[in-house]
Amino acid sequence: MTQLARRRFLQYLSASPALLASRSSIAQSVEDLYAPQEIMHAADAINVFDFHEAAKAALRPAHYAYIAMGTDDGGTLRANREGFRKTRLRVRRLVNVTRVDTSIELFGERLPLPILISPCGSQGGFHPEGELATARAAASRDVRMMLSTVTSNSVEDVNAAYGQPVWYQLYTSTAWDANLARVKRVERAGCPVLVLTVDLPDSNREAVARFRRETTPECQACHGDGPGALPSKPMMGNDDLFTAHLDWDFVDRLKAATSMRLIIKGIVTAEDAELAVRHGADGIIVSNHGGRGEDSGRSTIECLPEVSGAVDGRLPIICDSGFRRGTDIFKALALGADAIGIGRPYLWALSAFGQEGVETVIDLLTRELEIVMRQAGTRSIAEIGPQHVV
Ligand code: FNR
Repeated sequence: MTQLARRRFLQYLSASPALLASRSSIAQSVEDLYAPQEIMHAADAINVFDFHEAAKAALRPAHYAYIAMGTDDGGTLRANREGFRKTRLRVRRLVNVTRVDTSIELFGERLPLPILISPCGSQGGFHPEGELATARAAASRDVRMMLSTVTSNSVEDVNAAYGQPVWYQLYTSTAWDANLARVKRVERAGCPVLVLTVDLPDSNREAVARFRRETTPECQACHGDGPGALPSKPMMGNDDLFTAHLDWDFVDRLKAATSMRLIIKGIVTAEDAELAVRHGADGIIVSNHGGRGEDSGRSTIECLPEVSGAVDGRLPIICDSGFRRGTDIFKALALGADAIGIGRPYLWALSAFGQEGVETVIDLLTRELEIVMRQAGTRSIAEIGPQHVV
């Protein structure tokens, strides 16, 4: 096209709003391909982000904010997703991947998926069946579930719904006897694994303060009364759960006090991973609490290589925070995780569709993991290694 012809064409375009509109609607529709869709049924979800939209529609603003929030400016929250984008895949070709096997072995058990339910509190605030619905969904897919100390349902009831004892996540009190009572209770309930969360010595959660103003009387059942009040929950007593006092002596004392396996949740450095091994931990969760702890701006996928390097196969490593795609799971497995945990995706799905939603989230992530395993030429989880990321 000559310059004159091009100028005439542009003049024609600018004089034709209909044409310009259709161009922009094409651009919009391409964007729309990747925008979450409104869904009426769990089965309509194309990916886990569709459940995010459904949760926004289903929840009170304060409850949605409680799930969504990070701390301070939300830097770690955003970094968790950005970290996956920065970690790229290095795929192999011409491997017969007709069948891929997503199963793993963890603590002597063969599990069908490298996916775990990370402990999230207050699920009664998101769905009437709360943790019971999550437990039934996890059981239906044989996925291990970690139950929060801040659960809305008792460990005994959740175990019954799960069909076997769940793993129990411990928030600690400054009162040792209160910790011991809680540990003995879950031990009696048969829980095989105790998950000690160590990444919340303090946390600036402005969304809680902001939305507490909107608390309605019916909300009191799920998050208590007055500023800073703790909710009334079956696994919580009157003891405070402020965990700034935690140190390695506490870990030693806890380890000696229980026959359960002890996992430490919230490790993000090689130094602490080495200490965890030395203090007898049975596993590590590389986690920044889904960006709800410190605003370090460092994603867990960035922390994982130094932790797995330090651990060097001596303990199983689980990684959580920001997992939304099968490719995210694949990248973590490549960088040394044995399994990953999900938080918000199942909370979104629980909020909108209960048990069926949580089951669908697990199924979607499984499908995506199988796809990327095929694309990378990996037939089993064991075949996924550091050579698959760059
Ligand atoms: C959490 N998380 C959490 N962790 C924990 O050890 N005990 C708990 O009670 C809770 N409660 C909780 C509530 C809510 C609403 C959220 C979103 C998270 C952290 C959780 O176990 C996990 O580390 C993160 O949720 C993982 O990040 P994603 O998947 O949510 O991005």
